[in-house]
Amino acid sequence: MGCLTDGGHSRVGKGREGSCSGSTNGLESVGQGRSVPTLASSSNSSKLLITANMQNYRHRGPNEEPRLYWFVFPLVQFQTGQELQVFQKWTEKYPCACPRWLWGSRVSLVVYDPDYMKMILGRSDPKAGGSYTFITPWIGYGLLLLHGETWFQHRRMLTPAFHYDILKPYVRLMADSVQVMLDKWEELLTQNSHLEIFEHVSLMTLDTIMKCAFSYQGNHQADRNSQAYIQAIRDMNNLVFARVRNVFYQKDIFYGLTSEGRRNHKARQIAHQHTDRVIKLRKAQLQDEGELEKVRNKRHLDFLDILLFAKMENGKGLSDKDLRAEVDTFMFEGHDTTASGISWILYALATHPEHQQRCREEIQSLLGDGASITWEHLDQMPYTTMCIKEALRLYPPVPGVGRELSKPITFPDGRSLPKGFLVSLSFYALHHNPNVWPNPEVFDPSRFAPDASRHSHAFLPFSGGSRNCIGKHFAMNELKVAVALTLLRFELAPDPFKIPVPTPRIVLMSKNGIHLHLRKLL
Ligand code: HEM
Repeated sequence: MGCLTDGGHSRVGKGREGSCSGSTNGLESVGQGRSVPTLASSSNSSKLLITANMQNYRHRGPNEEPRLYWFVFPLVQFQTGQELQVFQKWTEKYPCACPRWLWGSRVSLVVYDPDYMKMILGRSDPKAGGSYTFITPWIGYGLLLLHGETWFQHRRMLTPAFHYDILKPYVRLMADSVQVMLDKWEELLTQNSHLEIFEHVSLMTLDTIMKCAFSYQGNHQADRNSQAYIQAIRDMNNLVFARVRNVFYQKDIFYGLTSEGRRNHKARQIAHQHTDRVIKLRKAQLQDEGELEKVRNKRHLDFLDILLFAKMENGKGLSDKDLRAEVDTFMFEGHDTTASGISWILYALATHPEHQQRCREEIQSLLGDGASITWEHLDQMPYTTMCIKEALRLYPPVPGVGRELSKPITFPDGRSLPKGFLVSLSFYALHHNPNVWPNPEVFDPSRFAPDASRHSHAFLPFSGGSRNCIGKHFAMNELKVAVALTLLRFELAPDPFKIPVPTPRIVLMSKNGIHLHLRKLL
């Protein structure tokens, strides 16, 4: 997930001109013939010309042989650190999609049109290539990376862990974790009113997922192991991102010899030690008859208990390897995404004081002092929810995902791609696409007013289709609790000297952290 996208070998077909055709999408037919693909670079490194021999799938009738075309298309080489900014420019020029070059013959089609998204997310193409490959040694084949029948079995097994009855009591645990973070902020404010919040929020969301999904008690926000885990995740986020973009880092054998490869290995070990501890402790607790009885009497098991008691279709429990993969997947997915979400939402509200105040008033009238926020409250903050969604649009915590086409595809405008092609679904570019969202850079919560209409695939922070986010209700609850309790305690303003620079990693980060100015409210 995240910017888990890179390229495959470019074989792109072109169909009839459609809604996205005003600008050819960067694909142009220039001739016909059969020859070996060649790659030629122009003087401008950000606009390479690739000449390739490609199949056209569009005009193929039942008895018609595939026709071969020559194509020339400008490829975008995204310079590290400017990827999101370049997307914005290209969305204006190429409304639906554009091919992206990483290195060598590595090309993928970056998609940011709702109809294209809908088609791809409605299929079951595997998540393959790029960062997905490089995070496998870390999170293993858990729900995020599994495919086919095994994925289906795991999804069915784990869905009950997100049942409303399970999620309800989590609201109190979430609120407790948020209050610990806010207490810490209050203390820190006595020294300095400026704070980099991303790390604090990450510790808080890790604390929350440990308590909710893994029944792991304790104060993780002050715990060294949790801090080491957060740092390890941060390192791996950066290292995986850099690895995808470096032709020399692709093979494990060479990568392992580099200093980045060694740092990656070290970070992975730290992450695994953390999840091993959680599994061991829970297994030890379940040796105790009393605890076992408690679990047996629960109407709904929580996440880790489901895994520990799981019986697959063949009657066997999960292997240790599969269990570890799920724990690694949920430990990471369950905290880093929400940390990004909460941090960017708070930043968005800090930069829009009028909306911030309107949310605060809504929450004050609902919660008073906020001492007891409950499940029932979460549906009664419509304006705050609109602001949260608008911030998720501008700053989608998962900026993009990738798929490898398992069969050819023809988009509604007639353009087609062959089997095996890698496609990057850029949620960030979709959410900033001026053809989908007028004035996309403007923070306007009314886009999410109850009577506002939009394409079913215009807003995809949690992706869509069968591989959508299993934790989205958990996540939305956590975002609401965190935003509500923070606004009750603090007034937020941006730090004018440290404006965050959105940068894509597996989750959306800021290159220079997210710095806010906080004022304690009486
Ligand atoms: C704001 C917070 C979150 C956002 C924006 C988010 C977003 C996403 C997205 C975009 C995907 C699709 C990934 C892909 O196709 O490669 C996804 C999948 C997933 N998410 Fe989330 N997520 C969030 C929170 C969570 C939480 C809290 C959990 C767990 C408690 C979670 C667990 C997962 C898992 C396991 C998958 C894989 C699902 C599957 O393939 O069946 N996420 N998420």
